[in-house]
Amino acid sequence: MQYREKILNDNAFLVSETDSKGIITYANEEFCNVAEYKLEELVGMPHNIVRHDDMPKAAFDDLWKTVKEDKVWQGFVKNKSKSGNFYWVYATVYPYKNEKGELCYMSCRRKPRQNDISEIEKRYKSMR
Ligand SMILES: Cc1cc2nc3c(=O)[nH]c(=O)nc-3n(C[C@H](O)[C@H](O)[C@H](O)COP(=O)(O)O)c2cc1C
Repeated sequence: MQYREKILNDNAFLVSETDSKGIITYANEEFCNVAEYKLEELVGMPHNIVRHDDMPKAAFDDLWKTVKEDKVWQGFVKNKSKSGNFYWVYATVYPYKNEKGELCYMSCRRKPRQNDISEIEKRYKSMR
């Protein structure tokens, strides 16, 4: 079966939050819709539930290294939906502390430019 690309709406804003270990604690409705999961299916799962095999490990190493240094990470991510289709996002991942003072992370994603995707696909291929 041929998997298809899902192109985000121009004004898409996909949000998810994790604990300090990358376990999903929240996702907004748009994230759930695009990823094709119900919120209950996501909460408690590791965020690699939407990981696409085309993503190089080094991209996530960089993400984790950056947020653990209390910095904001930005980058292009190819994700896999529940049915196996894929969608590209431009993600900004923030570290923050919740009301209990626990370290958490939040990712806010928007639609990337198609030109950027062609470039990043080549770069990610060379990193794999
Ligand atoms: C807030 C936050 C959001 C994340 N969002 C994604 C995501 O959308 N897709 C993804 O593949 N990994 C995401 N990750 C990274 C995953 O935690 C994980 O490192 C990655 O999927 C690689 O999986 P692996 O460590 O099992 O190789 C996110 C991490 C954090 C902290």
